[in-house]
Amino acid sequence: MTASTSAAAEPRKVIIDTDPGTDDAMAILLALNAPELEVKALTVVPGNVTAEQGLENALKLVSLAGRCDVPVAGGAKHPLAQKLVTAEFWHGSNGLANINLPTARCPADPRFGPDLIIELVHQFPHQITLIPIGPETNIALALSKDPSIASLVKEVVIMGGSISGGNVNAAAEANIYGDPEAASIVFNAGWPITMVGLDVGDRAQVMPHHTAELARTHGPENDFVVSVLKFLETLGERYGFKGVSMYDPLAVGVAIDPTLVTTQAMRVDIELHGQWTRGETVANRRNLVERNVPYRDRLRIEALDKVAPNARVAVSVDAERFVRLFMERLRSK
Ligand code: BDR
Ligand code: CA
Repeated sequence: MTASTSAAAEPRKVIIDTDPGTDDAMAILLALNAPELEVKALTVVPGNVTAEQGLENALKLVSLAGRCDVPVAGGAKHPLAQKLVTAEFWHGSNGLANINLPTARCPADPRFGPDLIIELVHQFPHQITLIPIGPETNIALALSKDPSIASLVKEVVIMGGSISGGNVNAAAEANIYGDPEAASIVFNAGWPITMVGLDVGDRAQVMPHHTAELARTHGPENDFVVSVLKFLETLGERYGFKGVSMYDPLAVGVAIDPTLVTTQAMRVDIELHGQWTRGETVANRRNLVERNVPYRDRLRIEALDKVAPNARVAVSVDAERFVRLFMERLRSK
């Protein structure tokens, strides 16, 4: 029995900031069914869908799981400094794979998402793990309003970024591209960040045989997840993808069991201005920069300066163990 599954271990208190979204939906259901986690709130950010659609989806998901005890609060309506880009193209017209879940039974929490984050972080100092799995607008708003949360949060496990190219374009991953200014605030806040990027998410795939296995058991959440996986499988086939990349669920998986990934400490900066690279997570793998100083008619290297890492970046993943964990938690639910 590992430490994370030990009966004695206290569940980890988490807040999921989400733009649901197909893989968000699976991540939320994984979290709600993980005894290792205590979900203190879902806060909704626009990204894959609009803020309104995202809130409706989050409420339908907690209703499906029978978890009206989890507060679900809306937040920002748009990114900090650019237009909202939504992704119904990938997630279906309702963001939930065009699956019509029953009308939500759970009501929305009236608090503003970033305020709820601040409130819970103060209520549970050094105990809350934030799991942002959409653009980081709400987290940046919370930090800007109350910078003291940076030293009171236990950890931030981010699904976002990449150290080997993007999915929106050659450079940028969707969550960072969706609000680069917000991501820059979050990565520079001085709190412990684990970055679970696109590149490891692309290695944590549910394959058709996994979906077929999950389709042999039933329950409202089990059946919904199977339908989402089939939708994503079919969509992916059109573009030559072999399996379903579990981006957001992997971030939740890492909060459940950090040993699912190996990480490397890196300095990560967010590109805000590049012609081709706005939204890129620029990661310094060596945490060193050359110091160039004026010399005669040129500059020359004088020294190597250390740069302090600001994130632990996931660089490998035990994909099969993660997929097994995901399926075990959702089976027959
Ligand atoms: C991320 O972007 C969204 O489309 C997904 O929900 C995930 O959070 C992957 O780049
Ligand atoms: Ca997401």
